[in-house]
Amino acid sequence: MSRRPLIAANWKMHKTVREAVDYAGELVPRVRDVTDVDIVLAPPFPALPALVDALADLAAAGRIAVASQNVHAEPHGAFTGEVSPPILQASGVTLAIIGHSERRRLFGETDSGVNAKTRAAAAAGLTPIVCVGETLEEREADRTFDVLDRQIAQGLAGLPPARAGGAVVAYEPVWAIGTGRVASPDQANAAHRRIRGRLATLFGDAAGGACRIIYGGSVKPGNAAALMAQPHVDGALVGGASLDPVAFAEIVAASRPRAQPS
Ligand code: 13P
Repeated sequence: MSRRPLIAANWKMHKTVREAVDYAGELVPRVRDVTDVDIVLAPPFPALPALVDALADLAAAGRIAVASQNVHAEPHGAFTGEVSPPILQASGVTLAIIGHSERRRLFGETDSGVNAKTRAAAAAGLTPIVCVGETLEEREADRTFDVLDRQIAQGLAGLPPARAGGAVVAYEPVWAIGTGRVASPDQANAAHRRIRGRLATLFGDAAGGACRIIYGGSVKPGNAAALMAQPHVDGALVGGASLDPVAFAEIVAASRPRAQPS
């Protein structure tokens, strides 16, 4: 099955509203002709509406979309400081990053919390980008697949198969995030293959084949093409290198599907 590449920028806690709009102005001309890659930008919360506006033309054409970096699991209520999927959806946001390892490590997010957020996001019509990945300690103890199996089973539990197939899973080995130490294409592909097998077991072959599994962890313009050439790598979730629109556009360009031999 051919899956459309998806390249997402996770800006983390970087960029003001003004900087986000300036970035859009730099990025759009560089990706205007890219019709075969889905592009996603995930800015801090305050920049979401401005970015939705700044990207409206390409968003209307279905080519670029805006994601939040987090959501709350409840639709509304007394949850000071939180933002719900329906509020995001009403702001023009169409995807939500959920369970990033920084949120798991620094903010105590658990698999069951990730699951509640994933189901809430999907129910509100947002595409969840569910992040999974092992620590260095887990990899060295040969527990990578056990960790991925658990994070997938618990994180996506209860999703209807069609929603699981429409979701995005981001494989982000914790040891590769912000370290400059990228997973090798083989390491990434093996993890993605495992995740896809797990999805197929849980949600059926159609969902397993449709779900896009993207790689995150020190993706740069120079290593994107080799990662994207792997059969189970459907895109990238880019941190540091996504802060520069020129570098991010280069990663998008490196991710375009190869011309099929006729
Ligand atoms: P870096 O690309 O900076 O390693 O960050 C990856 C990441 O965490 C994306 O969500």
